[in-house]
Amino acid sequence: MNNQITVSKPCLPPLEEFIPYLQQIWDNKWLTNNGPLHQQLEKELADYLGVEYISLFSNGTLALMSALQALNIQGEVITTPFSFVATTHSIWWNKSTPVFVDIEPGYLNLDPYKIEAAITEKTEAIMPVHVYGNPCQVDEIQRIADKYQLKVIYDAAHAFGVKKDGNSIMKYGDLSVLSFHATKVYSTIEGGAIVCHTSEMKHHIDNLKNFGFRGETVVEEPGINAKLNEVQAAYGLLQLKYVDGFIASRKRISELYRELLKDIQGISAFNDMKGVSHAYSYFPILVDEEKYGMSRDDLYEKLKENDILGRRYFYPLISDFEPYKSLLSAKSANIPIATKIAQQVLCLPIYVELSEEEVRYIVNVLRK
Ligand SMILES: Cc1ncc(COP(=O)(O)O)c(C=O)c1O
Repeated sequence: MNNQITVSKPCLPPLEEFIPYLQQIWDNKWLTNNGPLHQQLEKELADYLGVEYISLFSNGTLALMSALQALNIQGEVITTPFSFVATTHSIWWNKSTPVFVDIEPGYLNLDPYKIEAAITEKTEAIMPVHVYGNPCQVDEIQRIADKYQLKVIYDAAHAFGVKKDGNSIMKYGDLSVLSFHATKVYSTIEGGAIVCHTSEMKHHIDNLKNFGFRGETVVEEPGINAKLNEVQAAYGLLQLKYVDGFIASRKRISELYRELLKDIQGISAFNDMKGVSHAYSYFPILVDEEKYGMSRDDLYEKLKENDILGRRYFYPLISDFEPYKSLLSAKSANIPIATKIAQQVLCLPIYVELSEEEVRYIVNVLRK
C-alpha cells in the first residue's frame, strides 16, 4: 500500500452485508445463467434507472458488441474519436467500419452538426458517447438518424443514473450501453448492460448473450457468452443500496473542486448542464498551456511527483491508435477540436472516499 491518490477507487459495500448473499448462492447452487439474483438485479436496476428493459452483461465491451449485433449493423458507424478505445473496438469486432466525426467544444461529445457531412450510402448507425456522463445533443442526433434512417446506439458507460429533464438519458436512441466496471460510479466489479425499449428486443439481446440459444435445442444466431454471474449480481444489488450516497459524495467533491479551481488562470472545469442530474463519474479539467504557464503533460508529471495520479482521458485519441490510424479517410481526419482537447484534458481524482483535505491538497499542487 502507498499514499498515492489514484484517479478513482472503488467503494465496496460492507463485507458483512455480502456474506448472506454468498450464503444464498452457496445454498441454491445457481451460479450463473439468469439466476435469481441476476433477475432481481435487472428488475431493481430498471426501477432505479427509470427504464423499461435492461439486460445485464459480463462487461460493457461485450454489451457494446452485442448491441451492434442486435441491430444487425454491418456498414459504417459514425462515432467519436474522443472516448475509451472499447467504443471503436466494438465496431471493429462487428466487422463494421468506424467513421470518426469531431466533438463539440462545450461538453466534448460527438458534434451533431458535423455528422451529416460524414454520412455515405454505407452508413448504418451512429454510436455517440455521453463522455464523462454529460448527455449528448440527443434531439439533434435523433433528427439526423430519422432523416437518414440510421440506428443510434449510445455508449452510456459513463452515464449511470444520469437524467435529462427528469428522464433517464437511457431513453434516447435505439439502445444504450452501460459499463459497471470497478472504476465506475456503480459497479458489479466487471459488468455492463444494454437498455432497450421493447420486450422483443430484450428477448433478442438475452439470447445473444447466451450463445444465441432460444430454448434448449435451437440456436437462432451466432451469439456470445456475455452473462453476468450470481456473485457479481449480488455485489450489484448491494451497490444499488448505496449508489445515491456515492453520487451525493461525488457531487460534493465536484463542487469543492470547482470552487477551489475557479481563480486558477488557465485551468477550466465543466459546469453542470441545465436540466441534467449528473452522476459525477469523472472530474475533467482543461489546461490552457499559455495561460497556465505549463503544459497538460508537465502538470500530469508534477501531480505524479506529488503522489497524485490524474489520468489523461482521452489521450491519445482512438483514431491515433495503431489499428485505427489507417481508417482515417480524408473526410474523417478532420477532427481539430478532438485533437486540441486531447492535448489539454486531464481527469483529476474523484471517488467517494476522497476527503476534502485531499481535494485541497490536489488543488494546492495545481496552484503552485
Ligand atoms: C466510454 C466507454 N465505453 C466502453 C467501456 C468498456 O466498458 P468495460 O470496461 O465494462 O468493458 C468503457 C470503460 O471502461 C468506457 O469508458
